[in-house]
Amino acid sequence: MLLQVENLKTYFHTPRGIAKAVDGVSFSVEKGETRAIVGESGCGKSITALSLLQLVPEPAGYIESGRILFEGKDLLDRTWEQMREVRGDDISMIFQEPMTSLNPVYTVGWQIEETMRAHGKNAATARARALELLDRVGIKDPSGALRQYPHELSGGMRQRVMISIALANRPKLLVADEPTTALDVTVQAQILALIRELQKETGMAVLLITHDLGIVAEVADTVSVMYAGQVVEDAPTRELFKNPRHPYTRGLFASLPARNRRGQDLATLEGVVPDSAAWPKGCRFADRCKYAWESCHTIAPTFHPNGSDRPVRCHLYDPNISGRPSRLPWLTELPVTADLVEAAKL
Ligand SMILES: Nc1ncnc2c1ncn2[C@@H]1O[C@H](COP(=O)(O)OP(=O)(O)OP(=O)(O)O)[C@@H](O)[C@H]1O
Ligand SMILES: [Mg+2]
Repeated sequence: MLLQVENLKTYFHTPRGIAKAVDGVSFSVEKGETRAIVGESGCGKSITALSLLQLVPEPAGYIESGRILFEGKDLLDRTWEQMREVRGDDISMIFQEPMTSLNPVYTVGWQIEETMRAHGKNAATARARALELLDRVGIKDPSGALRQYPHELSGGMRQRVMISIALANRPKLLVADEPTTALDVTVQAQILALIRELQKETGMAVLLITHDLGIVAEVADTVSVMYAGQVVEDAPTRELFKNPRHPYTRGLFASLPARNRRGQDLATLEGVVPDSAAWPKGCRFADRCKYAWESCHTIAPTFHPNGSDRPVRCHLYDPNISGRPSRLPWLTELPVTADLVEAAKL
């Protein structure tokens, strides 16, 4: 296993008390695997990603507990200095807004090459690879681009430069937080195709954070669905699309573009994610769940009721919870499975 995150908790001190932004997250990524993390805004996706590289905004934010095993060793045992060797080398990250992570006062070339020099490459090697990388990410005039400053580039070009930087040292794991959200659909598709291509060549694993289930269907092998600081469902992509188990996941699917399918039986997601400084006592989704009953509001569901092969954090799957219906409530509604699979072209 390349990456194994176990019961990660990342909290913030806030005037309202301690905000439990990431509250017991577990997932793993194998070599070459693409795992997507999906969920609505504010569910803790970015804080999970930042925690991996110990880039949680200080001093308010801190990792409370958990383990982040990378090739079997816990990254949380490392000092800040030791983490610097990991960042941009074994693990690299692409952020949503490339302008904030590129330095405006240095040329593109300097920034790509510096990433490699910082990890021991000599100047000539770094220059040659920078040219190769820019060409690889589809920049027409690589040597011209080396001399340009970030503000001289379009959003799509800046994102390509960011990818060049992220890939410069051939990372084993690329963490991409909404890497294409700011881009138009065509550029978005090109960039995703590029990441996939490079991944095939190098065996790099990808942790892709997105709220776009269309992108998940296209690129991910496995999916962690996050809600309110926790993973509520973990499944191979195809299984998730064939049979979304958590009512929250089903709600997310209802917002897929293929809305014209027969039987609009999925609940659309109404309401908002609760405040991370005051998570509800029972299921965190209960207030928005059309299937919730009394136990859902009082008892917090575990992630493995039933010792399920496909973990889901929901009382509907836990035979030990009282008041549970004898069959899944949506089984009495019109089927949607074929449509979901079809819509996602899986
Ligand atoms: N600097 C901060 N101070 C206090 N709380 C914070 C801070 N940053 C994040 N949080 C808390 O962490 C929660 C999760 O934030 P995060 O950025 O991980 O969400 P996200 O899932 O990435 O959302 P989005 O889809 O909008 O990017 C927020 O709802 C907020 O409660
Ligand atoms: Mg985010």
